[in-house]
Amino acid sequence: MAGDVDEKALFERFSNKYKLVQNDLLRQIERSNCGSDYGANSFTTLKQAKELEAMLALGAKQSLLEVGAGSGWPGLYLAKQSGCDVTLTDLPIEGLRVAKERGDSEQLPGICTVAVASGSALPFRTGAFDAISHSDVLCCLIDKLLVLKACRKVINANGKMIFSAILISPGLSSADNQKAIECGPSFMATEDSYENLLDVAGWKLIDRVNLSSEFFETLQVMLGNELDHNEALEKLLGKDEALRRLNRTRSYIEGLEQGFIRRELFHVVPA
Ligand SMILES: C[S@@+](CC[C@H](N)C(=O)[O-])C[C@H]1O[C@@H](n2cnc3c(N)ncnc32)[C@H](O)[C@@H]1O
Repeated sequence: MAGDVDEKALFERFSNKYKLVQNDLLRQIERSNCGSDYGANSFTTLKQAKELEAMLALGAKQSLLEVGAGSGWPGLYLAKQSGCDVTLTDLPIEGLRVAKERGDSEQLPGICTVAVASGSALPFRTGAFDAISHSDVLCCLIDKLLVLKACRKVINANGKMIFSAILISPGLSSADNQKAIECGPSFMATEDSYENLLDVAGWKLIDRVNLSSEFFETLQVMLGNELDHNEALEKLLGKDEALRRLNRTRSYIEGLEQGFIRRELFHVVPA
């Protein structure tokens, strides 16, 4: 699976996905997969979003930045629950349009702003945000350090950032490392460990939690849904895309079973 696309192709894949976010079947499948229907492309479940809400502990007048927000998951949910202001950024405009509409229609208590922006060039003032979150975004882009540095610039001195990422399990042989690269997301590999990247970018690591077993359970449900609705998904997405999604789910499951890949949550603060 990995390496089957470059960043531009991945961008187009996300843009196409966000055009279909409001489809009834996809929303139904997503509710079954992860408990929400915002058009999630990450593997953040509703249960994990609730945990994120507790960890971020945001309130009215505080500001959250969601980087790589897609169509608003989980940033919109966090804003709804906490009453904070939320700024959603991503590159494809399609997802952000859907997110803005949902934010407006749900009459969020705080202000909801969307901006087309790369995670590596965030167009905000220094220290603008109380919290930043991103869900499985760093494994969708090559230059992770640039994004971590850009996030560091816009967090305030007492702020925190919580993000999930799918990564290659540490300590693999080079043959297994190669197999990990083949079964995980396209840009899962890092030029350095996450600890070192965070350190260089000016972040202090507070905690990292292994979410792999929950990820595995989510993937099992996802696989069941993709098989049960295969015919309808082929009609909706085309045979190639439906098969690609099925193969991706199987490939992640295999990567987890073999211990090649994992999904983790990082809690960091300015160093
Ligand atoms: C796994 S999806 C997560 C989307 C959403 N937060 C969710 O949970 O469904 C990763 C997102 O990262 C975005 N992304 C990829 N490269 C990016 C970059 N350089 N800057 C900002 N966002 C990027 C993609 O467009 C995609 O929407």
